[in-house]
Amino acid sequence: MVTIASQTVNQEIIHLADLRALNDGKERWNHLLNKDGRNRALLISAAPGAPPDPHIHSDFNEFWIMLDGETEYQIGQYVPFTAKWGDVVIAPAGYRHDIRSTGTGPWNMRLVVGPQWSNHDIKGIEPSKFIPLPQAEPANLIHTSYEWMLERHGTENNWGEEVVLDQRNRVNFIHSIPGSSNNPHWHPDFDEWWVVLKGELEWRVGKKDPFRAGPGDVVFVEKGYRHDIVTVSDESAVRLAVTNRAGVHIYDGDDPAPKE
Ligand SMILES: [Fe+2]
Ligand SMILES: [Fe+2]
Repeated sequence: MVTIASQTVNQEIIHLADLRALNDGKERWNHLLNKDGRNRALLISAAPGAPPDPHIHSDFNEFWIMLDGETEYQIGQYVPFTAKWGDVVIAPAGYRHDIRSTGTGPWNMRLVVGPQWSNHDIKGIEPSKFIPLPQAEPANLIHTSYEWMLERHGTENNWGEEVVLDQRNRVNFIHSIPGSSNNPHWHPDFDEWWVVLKGELEWRVGKKDPFRAGPGDVVFVEKGYRHDIVTVSDESAVRLAVTNRAGVHIYDGDDPAPKE
């Protein structure tokens, strides 16, 4: 059953299955998920062969979180690469980006994150020569592969690593083992949101009823609410957490959260 209205913004939880159901049969669609003052997060699904729209933003970094299907990215002068579930892709400011669905299924989904304003009118020039992606460490790789992150850190323990860190955002890739939870806290100056990539997690937010999210679900918690997150699946869970750069946390024992 579809439980979301079309274009509802900053909903506490959006289930990916509901978005698929809402858009069944459409070749290309967008759904605005979050607008939080810093970012605009738009879910895009495009069938293979959908016309691309290569362009440049000179004044902000843009990033994508990959969900269903396979998508080819060509960023700046780098050789094109294919991204799939859980991968994070960044186009630094001034890097032309050309994005094409290459998967075979109906769903080729990516969540694009840019500022609330965004200009897609500058088309740029196709590179005359491609160069390989550099071998480098996170954060801010052009392509952070989900599978590589799991290989890099393993799935035995709790861990987190920053994959995006710029003026607007800090994005952490977080792996949590069954039964584990983070320390309850709240944020005074930013709304936080997450994309679940693996397993099932339970959010406990203020005095609200706890709720659960699984792969592809997007959770949004307004600033000022105490929250903690528990891994409730038998398998470990992976989520991406999007905060502002400073990422100020206020834990229990300090000031109580202003919202309930
Ligand atoms: Fe863009
Ligand atoms: Fe938080």
